[in-house]
Amino acid sequence: MIEGIIFDLDGVIVDTAKYHFQAWKRMAAELGVNFTEVENEQLKGVSRRGSIDKILNWGGISLSEEEIEKWMRIKNEWYLEYVAGMQPSEILPGADRIIAEAKSLGLKVSLGSASKNSRFILEKVNLIDQFDAIVDGTVVSASKPDPEVFLTGAKQLGLEPSKCLVFEDAVAGVQAANNGNMKVIGVGDSTILAEATLTFPNLENVRLKEDIIDKI
Ligand code: BG6
Ligand code: MG
Repeated sequence: MIEGIIFDLDGVIVDTAKYHFQAWKRMAAELGVNFTEVENEQLKGVSRRGSIDKILNWGGISLSEEEIEKWMRIKNEWYLEYVAGMQPSEILPGADRIIAEAKSLGLKVSLGSASKNSRFILEKVNLIDQFDAIVDGTVVSASKPDPEVFLTGAKQLGLEPSKCLVFEDAVAGVQAANNGNMKVIGVGDSTILAEATLTFPNLENVRLKEDIIDKI
């Protein structure tokens, strides 16, 4: 029986990929590299450091450790400028309702995100008070598909991993949940997220109990 829900942030609760894209593209342009939306897709769920390493690799650029740190800092400053204006209206359809349904069913709710900006964004969209635990890139060190972020979430909720259900939009995130022995709802393309327990193109019309909990 499911007793807790763990939500990824970017791509499940809010669509921040477009803001990450703007900031990475701006950085790439400064370095003389063309960064595309197709490449941006491959950065979903990937940590900030993992993302810059990929972009530099695609662009055939090698930078010192100091330069990498500098560009990650600059990219994040731009990203924070872009997300500073986010509003509750930018919550992806259904995400806030599913969180509310989980709470009304007596389930505990955690965040499980790679982002180091998760609290800032949850505050912007007015959801921060809905979470019993927030586990993000400021807390864990191993990147998805390592299950650390979700196992830490389960632990903070006081639950066995097998009693937790994860919502994820990234392949690495689905794998992380599976690696942690958790059921996982893929949000997105079912052919890409084929390893998920169930997938939905989005959460707009999905009912937590009837469409998910009663079926897994
Ligand atoms: C993930 C995003 O949730 O967080 C990635 O899908 C992002 O695109 C990663 O790189 C780290 O985020 P941040 O906010 O710490 O740079
Ligand atoms: Mg995501």
